[in-house]
Amino acid sequence: MKKHFAALILAALPVFAFAAGGHVELDKVDIDLTDKAAMQDGARTFANYCMGCHSAQFQRYERVAKDLGIPEELMLENLVFTGAKIGDHMKIGMKPADAKVWFGAAPPDLTLVARVRGNDWLYTYLRTFYEDPARPWGVNNKTFPNVGMPNVLAPLQGRQVIGCKQVQVVDNGKKQFDPLTGTPITHEACDQLTVVPKTGKLSESEFDEKVKNLVTFLAYSANPVKLESQRIGTYVLLYLAFFFVFAYLLKREYWKDVH
Ligand code: HEC
Repeated sequence: MKKHFAALILAALPVFAFAAGGHVELDKVDIDLTDKAAMQDGARTFANYCMGCHSAQFQRYERVAKDLGIPEELMLENLVFTGAKIGDHMKIGMKPADAKVWFGAAPPDLTLVARVRGNDWLYTYLRTFYEDPARPWGVNNKTFPNVGMPNVLAPLQGRQVIGCKQVQVVDNGKKQFDPLTGTPITHEACDQLTVVPKTGKLSESEFDEKVKNLVTFLAYSANPVKLESQRIGTYVLLYLAFFFVFAYLLKREYWKDVH
């Protein structure tokens, strides 16, 4: 009984996790789990910008190197900063208790975060930090209000600010136009994010691509067997098709005198 109850709680966890987020529309991201170049770029971003605080402790460096086609020496040189060995799990040195004091909340392990939060949520979250002097790190997040995480990708994205802008009215998913003049109907919205031009290393579309690659890596990390199961699945189907031919011929042979 106790065990069942625990299972129930676990099953409900993702729901609570969603409930903790803000009520913003999520931007859709279309990721491709066969795109190794994207995942390699994402793995590099993860090691450089996230592993200071977040581990991916159910994942080994060796497995990532193999799955993403990264030679081991390159992996050790460019993605391992903790002195870990290639066969080690992707752990970090920061202790959860210290982190809690520094950030108000311990940075969770990210191995499975894509399964808990979803790709669209991650893609939106990482792009919706904005400057907010009232917060301890000077930033807030539209997708995760009052988050304890600093905006670690700000050097790439630039300074993002929130403010009022004229935006087009959307009714039932349709953009509204003035029927007489054909000009867009707008209203003022005061939760609009804008990047201050020339404050980041990347352009807006380059930054979106960077984050997309990072999300692709996190999606792979949450389900590393997906690539393999797809490949094995193909062989199983081929085998079944092949086997069917012989089974059919055998059946014909057995039944040919029974009439
Ligand atoms: C300086 C430390 C630090 C760095 C670096 C950092 N984070 Fe965080 N992150 C945090 C903290 C602290 C939290 C917990 C925030 C809270 O609960 O208020 C967090 C929360 C998160 C969450 C929400 C998890 C959840 O489900 O609640 C995600 C996703 C995340 N971080 C992704 C990233 C990614 C991706 C990177 C690299 C681009 C990164 N973080 C870099 C400190 C950090």
